[in-house]
Amino acid sequence: MTTYSIALIPGDGIGPEVLREGKKVMDAVAQVAGITWNWKEYPFGAEHWLKHRKGLPTLMSEEDMAALGKHDAVYFGAVGDPRVPESVEQAGALLWMRFYFDQYINLRPAKLLRGVTSPLAGKKAHDINFYVVRENSEDFYIGLGARFSGRQSHEELTLQRALFKARFKVDIDLEPGDEMAYQIGAMTGRGAERVIRYGFELAKRKKLSRVTVVHKANVLTKIYGLWLETADRVAMEYPTIELEKTIVDATTMWFVRRPEWFQVVVAPNMFGDIISDLAASTVGGMGFAPGGNINPDRKAGVSMFEPIHGSAPKHGGLNKANPVATILAGKLMLDHLGEERAAELVEQACEDVLEAGKIRTYDVGGTSSCSAMGDAIAERVLQLRP
Ligand code: IPM
Ligand code: MG
Repeated sequence: MTTYSIALIPGDGIGPEVLREGKKVMDAVAQVAGITWNWKEYPFGAEHWLKHRKGLPTLMSEEDMAALGKHDAVYFGAVGDPRVPESVEQAGALLWMRFYFDQYINLRPAKLLRGVTSPLAGKKAHDINFYVVRENSEDFYIGLGARFSGRQSHEELTLQRALFKARFKVDIDLEPGDEMAYQIGAMTGRGAERVIRYGFELAKRKKLSRVTVVHKANVLTKIYGLWLETADRVAMEYPTIELEKTIVDATTMWFVRRPEWFQVVVAPNMFGDIISDLAASTVGGMGFAPGGNINPDRKAGVSMFEPIHGSAPKHGGLNKANPVATILAGKLMLDHLGEERAAELVEQACEDVLEAGKIRTYDVGGTSSCSAMGDAIAERVLQLRP
């Protein structure tokens, strides 16, 4: 009997209610898969920050992070509350975990489950079934940039202009009163390589034949030039897997026109953010979109599993949110822990309940509650007992 120690972060808004259902299903799975969960709940979220962390730019302190790092995984609901600055809850919780634990893979499967209708006409279950592998540690997310208010003195502006020119070989001709901001993305060869390799390894493990690498190297030649050259190099090690390179704008078009085509799609951080929401909506919306923020080396950093959706404060506490994305995030967590059979069981139970159609949440035209959905899926897991 393997025991896993899991940190639970319910968070704000609908976070606590969807995570409660996720935990419920994980507890059911434990009963049939011969594993034990050792849950520890953490209070990080708006209330806790306002009471104990106010002034801190992050929801969690360094000590909090060290505590999280001791678990086998983090199971996360959602954060976001109008009373707390957005930067604290997003950069200071989600991005903070991704960077701190070097969760450089953001795995976001898009699968049209049995019983779910795609907004794209004529798609049957599993017609859409691909993985978005989003780079999660570099690109435009590194926070490198500056903003000029226009209120600086002439001397300050002259200095900034000189620094900018020396560093970037661009003259930004700022006059007092001018406002200006810039933000740059950066990529390292190693950063590109590790995520592209993960994409190929995933394809190999799942017996898939194509990896699509998304870019915009026709315009952003430096950053995505390095990205594509790295892809070429990695692909040579996988002669049986096709490397396809697509420009991000065209990729969005093909996601809609021919989603069946895609198998593994590896994208730089920001494009990955955008196309994963699009991918989610083709398989029924954010209620069905889980994400794994993964450091594949379990010793090097803990991984975090979450629904991609946010905290939806206006729906919070109403027990109506769709918990399936969170339950599927639990499936990704099981996969990461090496419990593949248990992971399969979770997905099958979700599909069986969705296909039966008796229990449906409001986002897919039903009236069932969040907890009724969780109950039904947990019950189905127990029925599927191998
Ligand atoms: C996501 C979200 C986050 C991101 C935000 C909330 C920081 O959009 O997980 O996709 O941009 O990565
Ligand atoms: Mg996003």
